Amino acid sequence: MNTLEEENELVRISREVSHQYEVANVMNTLREKPTIFEHVSGFDFPVFGGITSNRDIIARGVGTEKESLLKILVNALRNPTDCPLVSQAPCQDVVIQGDEVNLDILPMLLHLPGDGGRYGTATVAIMKDPDTGRNACYHRIMQVGKNKCTARLIPKRQTRTTYDKIEGEIEMAICVGNSVPVMVAASLGPPSGVDELKIANTLDETPLVKCVTKDLEVPSESEFVLEGRITRDLDREGPFVDLTETRDFERQEPVFVVDCITHRKDAMWQILLPGRMEHKILMGMPKEPTIYDQVSQVTHCKNVLVTMGGGSWLHGIVQIEKQTPEDGKKAIDAAFKGHGSMKHVLIVDEDVNIYDPIEVEWAIATRFQGHRDLVVKPDQPGSSLDPSGDHSGKKTRTTKVGIDATIPPDVAPENYSKVEYKEVDLHDYLR
Ligand SMILES: Cc1cc2nc3c(=O)[nH]c(=O)nc-3n(C[C@H](O)[C@H](O)[C@H](O)COP(=O)(O)O)c2cc1C
Repeated sequence: MNTLEEENELVRISREVSHQYEVANVMNTLREKPTIFEHVSGFDFPVFGGITSNRDIIARGVGTEKESLLKILVNALRNPTDCPLVSQAPCQDVVIQGDEVNLDILPMLLHLPGDGGRYGTATVAIMKDPDTGRNACYHRIMQVGKNKCTARLIPKRQTRTTYDKIEGEIEMAICVGNSVPVMVAASLGPPSGVDELKIANTLDETPLVKCVTKDLEVPSESEFVLEGRITRDLDREGPFVDLTETRDFERQEPVFVVDCITHRKDAMWQILLPGRMEHKILMGMPKEPTIYDQVSQVTHCKNVLVTMGGGSWLHGIVQIEKQTPEDGKKAIDAAFKGHGSMKHVLIVDEDVNIYDPIEVEWAIATRFQGHRDLVVKPDQPGSSLDPSGDHSGKKTRTTKVGIDATIPPDVAPENYSKVEYKEVDLHDYLR
């Protein structure tokens, strides 16, 4: 944030603002530019957000440029490294325990009228599974008591898998105010058993410290850590807006009891607007390396984009350098493996710019034939976020579709390439 401030890219709002809708509305109007709200009525802590709201600042946050981000993420995913352990940490400057714990001191926001309550959203949750070890991922939390929240634990993800497997409570630490590497790594969702904090450490050194009351390690530079337990009690969670910008309905979710709050002496509470750009980028972008990894196992993968139009979650475009006629179809299967929630995937050749929707549509228009190149997979496990999925059972079911818009085999490739006019110097003609 210092770097952003030096480069005049940090907005400071000094006027007093309310945590009820106002912070969220201002942040949205600012298009989620990195911002600090210095005075939030009724709270001692400033609020900040927007430090991962576009690919450029994420790239800078992991020490690279936008064009190299995919490679850097693929490398970190493939090569997690041990985090150093420290005994003294800024995130434990202040320790609040026992009866003193009161979530009312935290400027958790009310985002939109109709929300179920005050929510923490930039909330990286760390827990340990007895078999697969440490896991870090996001769980939004809604305050339901002085020291209690409900945590949204999506089925099949690690925390819910552990919760369903074991009896009793799970120790969990929720870290708020995290570095860009921690935020990105926590959204990667690598295979079970791969420690996201070690991935963060490959992106940039991420020292950890032992929690004060729990057998867990957390990033020592977090702003806040809520040390607690996922209990067997259930309470209401939601309604709350999710990635698709539609309202996710109210559910009964496990209660997270907070036993201890630790924070920096000058701590700032981090926010992340649900359904807006930062949420979308953090959800979709880290799926690009996991898709890339899978597709690379079956053909030469050149690039991957999880597109905004698909809510940055349901749609992907994969660019390949086709080696054999079957590569397009193989890439479709592999891409679905790389991102289990993806519903529609499109495969294009190297000459198609995947960042240009018109070029992508052109590839479908000129290279794709439905009877030959369409893959339809009915009744697949789908995303809970897709309102059109079948949500009647325990898990969402959906139809997945793959479109192979690569140049078909046994044709003259020149018939499928764009012709180029020659650029002339107009000065020669307009004199
Ligand atoms: C901003 C953001 C918010 C998220 N909120 C939740 C949530 O409330 N509950 C949840 O289960 N997953 C949520 N996720 C997705 C988890 O981070 C995802 O489950 C994780 O990457 C999967 O990895 P895991 O199986 O190793 O936990 C969120 C992701 C992001 C980027």
